[in-house]
Amino acid sequence: MIKAAAIPVVLGLALLAPAVGGAAPAEPRQTFIDNCSACHQPEGAGIQGIFPALASNPFVKGDPTELTRTILAGRNGMPSFKNDLADEQLAAIVSHIRMSWGNGAAPVTPEFIDDVRKKTNNQLGQNPSNAN
Ligand code: HEC
Repeated sequence: MIKAAAIPVVLGLALLAPAVGGAAPAEPRQTFIDNCSACHQPEGAGIQGIFPALASNPFVKGDPTELTRTILAGRNGMPSFKNDLADEQLAAIVSHIRMSWGNGAAPVTPEFIDDVRKKTNNQLGQNPSNAN
């Protein structure tokens, strides 16, 4: 009797399980993998002499405004992301690289990204790496 009574409980849990793992709007690690890891590698190790490591990188851990501005505008061999990614996606990526791999820096919000966009809008178009 006890065993028979347990069956509906187990089935009920199995049905609930997929809902618990539902995808967030901008999953941080996956958004980073999709947009950045081809160059910077999935664990942020970079490729020596070509793509800088983001792990244990003082620039990544430092001023989040400068970091965000660099990702929006691009720099030298790195593309600009200001037209390709939404604030939610950029916040997920910036937070991911600041909090992962022992970097231990604070995350940022989509509102913060929007703020940096507005503050630096005039400069973004003037980055020489975006001129061509
Ligand atoms: C096509 C390759 C490529 C992609 C894709 C790319 N980057 Fe870069 N990234 C570079 C290169 C090359 C540099 C070095 C630029 C330089 O020397 O000024 C760089 C520099 C950086 C820096 C500055 C590092 C430092 O120490 O100054 C950060 C931060 C960064 N990338 C983050 C990202 C993030 C986040 C993404 C995804 C949204 C991304 N990159 C996508 C190639 C890439």
